[in-house]
Amino acid sequence: MRKKIIAGNWKMNKTPSEAVALINELKPLVASEEVDVVFCTPFISLIPAIEAAAGSNIEIGAQNMYYEENGAYTGEISPSMLTEIGVKYVVLGHSERREYFAETNETVNKKVLKAIEHNLIPIVCCGETLAQREQGITIDLVRLQTKIAFKGVSAEDAKKCVIAYEPIWAIGTGKTATSDEAEEVCAAIRKNMEEVYSKEVAEAIRVQYGGSVSGANASELFAKPNIDGGLVGGASLKAEFGKIVNYK
Ligand code: 13P
Repeated sequence: MRKKIIAGNWKMNKTPSEAVALINELKPLVASEEVDVVFCTPFISLIPAIEAAAGSNIEIGAQNMYYEENGAYTGEISPSMLTEIGVKYVVLGHSERREYFAETNETVNKKVLKAIEHNLIPIVCCGETLAQREQGITIDLVRLQTKIAFKGVSAEDAKKCVIAYEPIWAIGTGKTATSDEAEEVCAAIRKNMEEVYSKEVAEAIRVQYGGSVSGANASELFAKPNIDGGLVGGASLKAEFGKIVNYK
């Protein structure tokens, strides 16, 4: 049985002191042994967030990372910078990074490989635009995105990874995919992993849904057999996140 993983993607929100205050507020609300809880904060808040979360069940993740070890890459953050301070997860290939910062399936693949090399657990994002959904190419697209993202990743490593299916039209819009729509695509992603690897890998890998997850819709979404939790934006910045973690 896969353990659910519920991650908050804070995006570009909260200063370091606000991050500490939010973690202190949410800590008792997200104290659950049943699910893995991850807060993905801006880079500058990672160290205070790790300190604030110490001794709790909250793990800290980054929202991006570069795929080189070090060097002349102004403004970038390397995997060892993240692991040295205790970061456990890294979101890779979020649609906002693809849209605004020119991330491609190929750069996402390089980052996934590099994260794994450093024992960081990648949360690999995929998902379609509204136009792509209306054209009926959602499943083709997420198959392509995930296939390229996992190129060169061994079966043993793939099992530890997390995939987040986030339909772009549902992000920050209040418009959630129905639980059936989300389940259909998450199941297709799992099937794709079975084709690329094996049934064993497909059964182990965790597939999250993201896009306007809320306290009101989490229980229906997470009850679906192929949805192993969520990647939560807006609602992860408030007490509502506690409701999402305790969705049952
Ligand atoms: P919202 O939950 O705000 O729609 O954001 C989803 C998301 O992009 C998480 O990565």
